[in-house]
Amino acid sequence: MPRNVQWAYERTGTHLLFLAESIVYGPSYGAVQALIRNPQPLDPDYVWHRITDGLPPLLDWLRLHVPPAFARRPLLSLKMKQDHMLGIAEHYDVSNEFYELFLDKKYMFYSCGDFDTGEESLEEAQANKANFLLELIDPQPQDKILELGCGWGAMMRRIREAIGNSENLVGYTLSQQQVEYIRQHHELNVEFKNFVTHDYSHEAYDKIYSIGAWEHVRERDVPIVLEKLHSALKPGGRLVQQFFCGIVETPASCVVAAQVFFPGSMPAAYPSQIRAFEQPGFGLAIGPSMITGLRCEHGSITWSPTARGLSS
Ligand SMILES: C[S@@+](CC[C@H](N)C(=O)[O-])C[C@H]1O[C@@H](n2cnc3c(N)ncnc32)[C@H](O)[C@@H]1O
Repeated sequence: MPRNVQWAYERTGTHLLFLAESIVYGPSYGAVQALIRNPQPLDPDYVWHRITDGLPPLLDWLRLHVPPAFARRPLLSLKMKQDHMLGIAEHYDVSNEFYELFLDKKYMFYSCGDFDTGEESLEEAQANKANFLLELIDPQPQDKILELGCGWGAMMRRIREAIGNSENLVGYTLSQQQVEYIRQHHELNVEFKNFVTHDYSHEAYDKIYSIGAWEHVRERDVPIVLEKLHSALKPGGRLVQQFFCGIVETPASCVVAAQVFFPGSMPAAYPSQIRAFEQPGFGLAIGPSMITGLRCEHGSITWSPTARGLSS
């Protein structure tokens, strides 16, 4: 087949695929998949502006309303049928070198930073976030501390800096590459473990925290995991969570688009999170703080087990 005919076929196929995916999953999903399939290297400025610039009103309306609200749950339920662990591995095991390209150079945090003035560098914003969370976790040298979803060990390193050792500190992740990276570069205790299905020992920890990992916990699992975490904390223990979630129960259309990046993950909405945290007896100690940026809500919530009469 002549090259220009083949090219025309490919272009038509790409456009049809974009159209089909946009109709079923929404234009954000279709557009991102089209960018990923594009054989040409992407221009960073172009992609940045595509994602952050406002859209013309009609496209913006389509972005927010397709797929329609009534179709989102069934669509997402289908997506949730895929293995959660495979979805995590697909996202995080791309390669450590890849993530080193764009995460902050000091810690390699892969979660929201605090741009308090908007003038900070990424490194400063991540340090702001780490310092804020450090105050909430309030680690003491003798504390047994667990991080759920520890990434490349960023917060574990910040805690070690603060208390001078990491003997009682452990992190769980579902990425084999992260485990290898942390063991090789930082000599921290890290385990390849699923914090959703794990059976925690009773009253094993003084502090449990997670940063940008609770988003991966599916709605139906949230209450079950919170029961387990509540029981895993010692009396007076503390659970610190930073995560973002939708503010209403209907999943936003961007949650469908997020399946491109986080296949099989879907954050529960804020009201059901609140109910689920209260169920085992956690009480809200600080927060929530809501900061809007890039059209997503970022919630930072600290919970303490007040049911034991030990609010902090
Ligand atoms: C967005 S990253 C955040 C990493 C780190 N907390 C940070 O702030 O840089 C999410 C992390 O959660 C982990 N994760 C997600 N679901 C998990 C699960 N069920 N069990 C263990 N780790 C999980 C991923 O492997 C990844 O390390």
